[in-house]
Amino acid sequence: MTAAVTLQALDIISAEHRGMWRLASALDGLGAQLQADLEAEGAAPAIVAMLEYLQAYTDRLHHPKEDQVLFRLLRQRSEEADAHIARLEADHRHGPAHLERLLMQARALASGVAIDLPAFCTALKSFVAHQQAHIRLEETTVMPLARRMLTAADWEEANAAFAANDDPMFGAAPRAEFAALHARIVRLAPEPYGLGGAAEPLPAVAAVPKTAPAAKVLEVRGLTSHYGRIQALKGIDIDVFEGQLVALVGANGAGKTTLLRTLSGVQPASGGDIVYRGASIVRQRPDARVRAGICQVPEGRQVFGPLSIEDNLLLGAYTRPKGERAEDLDKAYALFPILAEKRKLPAGTLSGGQQQMLAMARALMARPRLLLLDEPSMGLAPLLIEEIFRVVKTLRAQGMTILLVEQNAHAALSIADVGYVLETGGIGLSGPGQELLRNEQVKKAYLGM
Ligand SMILES: Nc1ncnc2c1ncn2[C@@H]1O[C@H](COP(=O)(O)OP(=O)(O)OP(=O)(O)O)[C@@H](O)[C@H]1O
Ligand SMILES: [Mg+2]
Repeated sequence: MTAAVTLQALDIISAEHRGMWRLASALDGLGAQLQADLEAEGAAPAIVAMLEYLQAYTDRLHHPKEDQVLFRLLRQRSEEADAHIARLEADHRHGPAHLERLLMQARALASGVAIDLPAFCTALKSFVAHQQAHIRLEETTVMPLARRMLTAADWEEANAAFAANDDPMFGAAPRAEFAALHARIVRLAPEPYGLGGAAEPLPAVAAVPKTAPAAKVLEVRGLTSHYGRIQALKGIDIDVFEGQLVALVGANGAGKTTLLRTLSGVQPASGGDIVYRGASIVRQRPDARVRAGICQVPEGRQVFGPLSIEDNLLLGAYTRPKGERAEDLDKAYALFPILAEKRKLPAGTLSGGQQQMLAMARALMARPRLLLLDEPSMGLAPLLIEEIFRVVKTLRAQGMTILLVEQNAHAALSIADVGYVLETGGIGLSGPGQELLRNEQVKKAYLGM
C-alpha cells in the first residue's frame, strides 16, 4: 500500500474537516459576540447561513461517505476502532436534531422574533464544542488507525467512493453551490469573521476550457537582485505557462516579495533575465510592464486611504483607454459586491479583508495578463482567507495566469497547478502543487506537520 493510495480519501475528509473547523470557530466567535451584546447586529443572519451550510454539507456529503464506506471498512479491520466509531456514529445520528433546533431558533432571531437568547448562546457553544471534539477524535485517533489498518483493496474502494461522491471538491454543480453558500456566509458575517455586508449572490463563472498546448508566459533565468550589498535573490529560475496558477511559498525573508517586485520592475535586477511572452523585459520600466499586462497586488494591500473606493479602482485603470473603464468597474463590482456597496466611501474605512479585495480589484482594472499576488491572505480571519482563495480560484477558472506568493503554504499549494519553494533567495523544491503538499520536506518546513 503506497502513501499516495491511502491519501486520497483521507485528504478529502481532512479538507472537509478544516472547512468545518473554520465554520465552527467563526460560529463560536459570533455566539460570543451575541452573548456579550445581545443586540449584536448582523450576527443572526450569518449564524443562520453557517448552520444551513453545515447542515447541507454534513447531511449530503460528509456523513454518508464516512458512515457507508470508511467506518464500515475500518470496523472490518480493527476491533479497537469499534468504540470510537460507535461514538462518531452516535454523533452523526443525534447531531442533525441539535443542528435543526439551533437553526430554527437562529432563523427566528434573524427575523426579529424574540427567543431566549442566553439559552441559544449556550446551546450554540455546546454544539460547536461537540463538533470540534468530533473532528478531533477523527483526526487524532480514527484516521491514523485507518492509515495503519486498511488494506490496499480497502483504499481502492474508499477512494473510488469518495471520488464518485458529489463532493464540492469534485462535482462542478455542488462545488458551485457550496462556493456560493460560502461566499454568502463571508459577506453576511460581521467583522472580524467576515465582510459585514449585504448578501447578493455572486455571478456564476463559467470555466474557460483549456486550449493545449499552453504558451509560456514567463521564463525567469538566473535572476538576481540586491539591496545594497545584501543579495536577496541568488539566481532564480521559474516558468509560468498561460492559464496556470503558480504558487511561490517560503519562510519569512526568503525573498518572495523581492522576486515579485523584480518581476514588476519596482526592484531592479542585478543579473539574469526575465522573458515575458517571448521578449526580455528585465530592463523595462514598471509602467511599460503594466501596459504589457503584468500587474502586482502588493504585500499589505497599500490602498489609498483618503480616496474613495471607486477612485482607488480608477487609479488601477490608468493604463487603460477611458472608454473601457466603466465596463471594467462593473466587472470589479460584480466580483466584489461589497466594494459596490461602499464605492463612495474612503478606502481607509474598509476592514482588512475588504481592503484586500479592493487591492485585488484595483489590479484587475488594468486587465492583467499576468497577475502577481503578494500574500493576499495575510492577517485575515480564516473565513476571509478562504474567500480570498476562492476569488483566486475563480480568476484562474476564467483563464487568468497568476503567480501567487503565500506563507499560507497549505492553502496556496492546494489550489496551485505548480509550486515553487523559495529558500533564502534560491528555489529549493518545485513541482505540481499536490505533489509538494505530500512532500515530506515541505510538510515539515512549511505545513507544520
Ligand atoms: N528594503 C530593503 N532593504 C534591505 N534589505 C531588504 C529590503 N527588503 C527586503 N530585504 C531583505 O531581503 C530579503 C528578502 O526579503 P523579502 O521581503 O523579499 O522576503 P519575503 O519572502 O517576502 O518575506 P515575508 O514573508 O516576510 O514577506 C530579506 O533578507 C530581507 O531582510
Ligand atoms: Mg513578503
